[in-house]
Amino acid sequence: MTVRAVIKGVGHYLPERVVPNSEFEAMVDTTDEWIRTRSGIERRHFAAEGETTSQMGALAARAALKDANLEASDIDMVVVATSTPDLTFPSVGTMIQKELGMTSGYAFDVQAVCAGFIYALSNANAQIVSGQAKRVLVIGAETFSRIMDWTDRSTCVLFGDGAGALVLEAEAAAGTSDDRGILSVDLNSDGTYRDMLYVDGGVATTGTAGKLRMQGNALFRQAVSKLASTAQAALVKADVTADKIDWVIPHQANIRIIEGTAKKLGLPMDKVVVTVQDHGNTSAASIPLAMSVGKARGQIKKGDLCVAEAIGGGLAWGAVVLRW
Ligand SMILES: CC(C)(COP(=O)(O)OP(=O)(O)OC[C@H]1O[C@@H](n2cnc3c(N)ncnc32)[C@H](O)[C@@H]1OP(=O)(O)O)[C@@H](O)C(=O)NCCC(=O)NCCS
Repeated sequence: MTVRAVIKGVGHYLPERVVPNSEFEAMVDTTDEWIRTRSGIERRHFAAEGETTSQMGALAARAALKDANLEASDIDMVVVATSTPDLTFPSVGTMIQKELGMTSGYAFDVQAVCAGFIYALSNANAQIVSGQAKRVLVIGAETFSRIMDWTDRSTCVLFGDGAGALVLEAEAAAGTSDDRGILSVDLNSDGTYRDMLYVDGGVATTGTAGKLRMQGNALFRQAVSKLASTAQAALVKADVTADKIDWVIPHQANIRIIEGTAKKLGLPMDKVVVTVQDHGNTSAASIPLAMSVGKARGQIKKGDLCVAEAIGGGLAWGAVVLRW
């Protein structure tokens, strides 16, 4: 008998303020047309003044708990993927734990930038499979609007804020690829790519939060090949072939990266959950947001075979194969 980490609920939160591409035309030398055609983004949500990553994460977590028909007291672990915490410490995880009224269990953050949700899912899966945790909240929450350089047109138009969450539960399973739950994980990183995507400040250097810096074109070229190869590696580990996939749930950075990766996997775009037009790049929140929206749209259904893949600063990249 095998233990699988099975999805019991999903939810998300998006800040109220929606910012269309046209708003950037007054700030930097850009056009709605350029942003749409080069990235696929049409609008994004930005957190209100004073609205924080933990507040958004807690709202997404509540929605996921409701979907799972569970209470916060049923949860024994909270893991939050974020690169934009409220404070340097304590973790966003413990802040969400408090917000949910949980006084037991344990909570912490993982930081793998845009690949963070894949790393957090991997961690949650490992703790469930090892018997350390039974029910886990896996949250991706970000306020990237706080680390934007509003004079840099090549980055400030691409990112957005939001949060998504999954509830995972340990379930006995047969140990085959027909099981529900997480079937495989593939993780990778290579720190030699540091300068391709980083934030130019931090606790031990400038003492400030810093601003995001990116070599977009160079990163674009890395993204498609690394995303396709990690997705393929996860499929092999799960013992399934790409033609069996019902849904690709990609990190939502750029529609051209999403299309290029699907093509390399030999999958048509009608098998890809796409939210980049409405959310922009929400970093670690983008995959759980896409999962929640994909389920709400009636795309992802119980029993569907899904592959989620992401790449981000580090570089760090990875993929998860799961049966919903
Ligand atoms: C950023 C990105 C959309 C730019 O698209 P691109 O086709 O690669 O464009 P380039 O970077 O080659 O820039 C082309 C031109 O557009 C310009 N440009 C950049 N941003 C612009 C904007 N917002 N509006 C108008 N022009 C812009 C550049 O300055 C450049 O001009 P130049 O040729 O005169 O130097 C694309 O590279 C990308 O999505 N990269 C990956 C980003 C990513 O995934 N990041 C997160 C990973 S988690």
